[in-house]
Amino acid sequence: MAYRHREGIDSLPSYKQGKPAPAGARVPSYKISSNENPYPPLESVRSRVADQALTRMNRYPDMRGTRVVERLAALHGVEPDNIQLGCGSTEVITQLVDLVAGPGDEVVYPWRSFEAYPIIVACAGAASVQVPLTGEGRHDIDAMTAAVNDRTRLVIVNNPNNPTATPVSRGEADRLVRALPADVLILFDEAYVQFNDSPDRAEGMDFFPDHPNVVVARTFSKAYGLAGLRIGYAVAAPEVVEGLGKVALPFGVTDVAQVAALASLDAQEELDGRVKAILGERARVLDALRGQGWRLPESRANFFWLPLGEGTRAAADRFAASGLSVRAFPGEGIRVTIGEGEANDRVIEICRELAR
Ligand SMILES: Cc1ncc(COP(=O)(O)O)c(C=O)c1O
Repeated sequence: MAYRHREGIDSLPSYKQGKPAPAGARVPSYKISSNENPYPPLESVRSRVADQALTRMNRYPDMRGTRVVERLAALHGVEPDNIQLGCGSTEVITQLVDLVAGPGDEVVYPWRSFEAYPIIVACAGAASVQVPLTGEGRHDIDAMTAAVNDRTRLVIVNNPNNPTATPVSRGEADRLVRALPADVLILFDEAYVQFNDSPDRAEGMDFFPDHPNVVVARTFSKAYGLAGLRIGYAVAAPEVVEGLGKVALPFGVTDVAQVAALASLDAQEELDGRVKAILGERARVLDALRGQGWRLPESRANFFWLPLGEGTRAAADRFAASGLSVRAFPGEGIRVTIGEGEANDRVIEICRELAR
C-alpha cells in the first residue's frame, strides 16, 4: 500500500537483531550473536521481580524511576538530577540525539560501530558523519576531531567499540574531550564498560563533571544480564537530563525493569564474579586463537572481532552448521560473543579449521 511518509525512511537500514541459536544442528546450539550474558538470571533478582513488580502490573511505573535514579546517583557520586533512565541505553541514546540534533545538524561517530546509531540519527532527521575506524578497528580520534564543525551537535565515543571490541585509551579520550567546543555534547556509550580491563581504561565519568558537555550512557543489559527487561541510563548535566526527560518515551521503563535493576545493584558482588568468569573465558578463547595464528584486534568487551573480509559469509555458515549463531557483517568480519563454556570450546575448534 502506498502511504504518505517521511522522506529518508525508505533508505534507512532496518536494525538487525542477532540471529537465534540455529535449529537443526546435531549438537546443542548456542546464540552468540547479541553480546548477551550467558548466565541465567540470579535467584535474588528473580524473586524480587516476582514479589514486588509482577503484583503491580495494573499500575503505571514511576516514570522518573526515582529509586533507581537515587541509587545510581549514589553509585556514581552525582546528584539524582544527573541521572536519566531509558528502556535500554538504546532509548537513552535516542533521547539524546532527539534532544540535540534535527534537520541540518550532524552527529559524528566512529564506523563501523553500534548499528543503532545511523537509524537513531536518521529518525531524528539529522545527518550521520561516520568516521572510519583505524586499520586496528579503533576510533580514529584525530579524524573524529577534524569532522566536527558548526553543524555538529553530538560526538559519540563507543568504548569498547561494538563490533570490534577495541577500547579508547585514556589519552585518546582526553584529547577528544579537550578538542571539542564546550557546547557540543560528547556521548561515551559504555554498554560494555564492566568488561574493559585495559590498564589504560578511560571512562566518561573521569571527565564528568569537569566537562559538563560529557554524557555517559550505561546499560543493565550486558554485565547485569537484564537485556530482556530493557533498562539503561545516562549520567549528564542537569540541564541535559531535563531535556532528555522531555523527549523520553513516557512510562518507557517498567516497574519490573526498575525492581530488577535495584536487585542487581544489590547483587553486585555476585555479578562481578560472573564478569570475571567471562573475562577468563575471553582470555582462554583469544589465547587459543592467537596460538592458531589469528591476528585479532584487542578485545576489551564480552565479544571479539574476526576480521574475515570476503570470507565472512562462508565462515558464518560454518559456525551455523556447528550450532552457533554469530553476528556476520558481510565483506567485513564476524563478531563473536563470549558465551557458555561449550559454545566457546566450539568457537576455538571452528576457528582452528578456518585458520587453515
Ligand atoms: C555499543 C552499544 N550501545 C548500546 C547498546 C544498547 O543496549 P541496550 O539498549 O540493551 O541497553 C548496545 C547493545 O547491543 C551496544 O552494543
